[in-house]
Amino acid sequence: MATTVITKNDLALCGGQPTVTLPAPKWPVVGEQEVKWMEDVVRSGKWSWLGPHEQAFCEEYARFIGTKYCIGMANGTVTLQCALQAVGVEPGHEVIVPGLTWVATAQAAMDIGADVVLVDIDRETMCIDPKAFEAAITPRTKAVIPVHLYGCMCDMDAVMEIARKHNLKVVEDVAHQQGSRWRDQGAGGIGDAGSYSFQQSKVLTSGEGGAVTCNDEKVYETAFCLKQVGWMPNVKEPGRRYGHNYRITEMQCVLLRAGLQRLPEQTRLREENVRYISDSLQAMGGPLRAARRDPRVTRQAYYTLTLHFDPAQAQGVTRDSYMAALQAEKAPFGGTYAPVYRNPLLNLYDRTSPVPFRDASRVQDYATLRLPETERAVTETGVLLSHTHLLGSREYIDQLLAAVAKVNAGLDAVRANAVAKKA
Ligand SMILES: Cc1ncc(COP(=O)(O)O)c(C=O)c1O
Repeated sequence: MATTVITKNDLALCGGQPTVTLPAPKWPVVGEQEVKWMEDVVRSGKWSWLGPHEQAFCEEYARFIGTKYCIGMANGTVTLQCALQAVGVEPGHEVIVPGLTWVATAQAAMDIGADVVLVDIDRETMCIDPKAFEAAITPRTKAVIPVHLYGCMCDMDAVMEIARKHNLKVVEDVAHQQGSRWRDQGAGGIGDAGSYSFQQSKVLTSGEGGAVTCNDEKVYETAFCLKQVGWMPNVKEPGRRYGHNYRITEMQCVLLRAGLQRLPEQTRLREENVRYISDSLQAMGGPLRAARRDPRVTRQAYYTLTLHFDPAQAQGVTRDSYMAALQAEKAPFGGTYAPVYRNPLLNLYDRTSPVPFRDASRVQDYATLRLPETERAVTETGVLLSHTHLLGSREYIDQLLAAVAKVNAGLDAVRANAVAKKA
């Protein structure tokens, strides 16, 4: 527990010296391997369409996740579309999606004509609540998308048990957690298909990009056709199946192959730093703590560290005022996404959107929907620390913790400042 009392003038929020003076770790990390490969690719003239780096990456990534198949794609939204269609989702089916995720998870289902049913999240993990998932199942439900969100995995034992009981398909959204493992099974290799984003902010990145993993040959073939203008794998002619151009380039695959070589060590370092942060916060006391790690998670890849702010221990300081005080100390703790049902894209009556063309009588009323645990996490309790900071040195992490200790010791001053600002 911090002993010194921090007054208003000490807080960086009110003009005091910020606690964190070391620079934040840089992201993305770049090595010599991809620079060399990139030059070779540029000179080779083979830039797209199932080139050698794409084929090598898909083999390496499938091995890393522990699946039979991997298909590289343009981003982590079209991967969800293809994965959903490949497991059998058709227009008019319902797809169950957690109320807290990036909007693309819901959009992907909506864009293929499915009706999105949003359900609440688990208080500790901020991932889909299995009980809420089961309660939302109807005769029209075809699939669920458990999103391994931020720094916690979904309870995949419960999700798989419910899905199998009700004969539903499971498409894991692993945009945040390349390399997480549940009982030593790779996230994205547990359900019927896995979907990954390699967008700039992700722990494995090529600027933009994505992949689908699966074990079933039919799922693989359908997803492959959907990405590759209807071509079947290993058949060098247009097929009779439907498909788009959702291809990934050789340049992207060069970045991914090199990033994949670094990923296990980065994940190990993040796990070590998270252990240290969690233990230090617990010893410190105060309103902020790290989410508890489920012992069934055998490796946790972190898009962010998931933390919880407890208003009952904050002496009247709100989560937002607390985060503002930390940010002023240059400790970059942030909030969550907005609930999916508040995203304007779900209710946008624009000619280019699928919204005006769906059957309103069959779609959940997103405008009035309020999911209590989602609301609570988004507005009162959810706090995140990005994976880039989890690659910091021990000195850097100690400065972040010192910022938390300082704000904890200055809660009275933070509250007074918020009250003064409001007046
Ligand atoms: C949980 C989740 N799913 C899907 C996506 C979509 O990925 P992309 O931006 O590559 O289309 C994202 C992107 O941030 C995401 O966070």
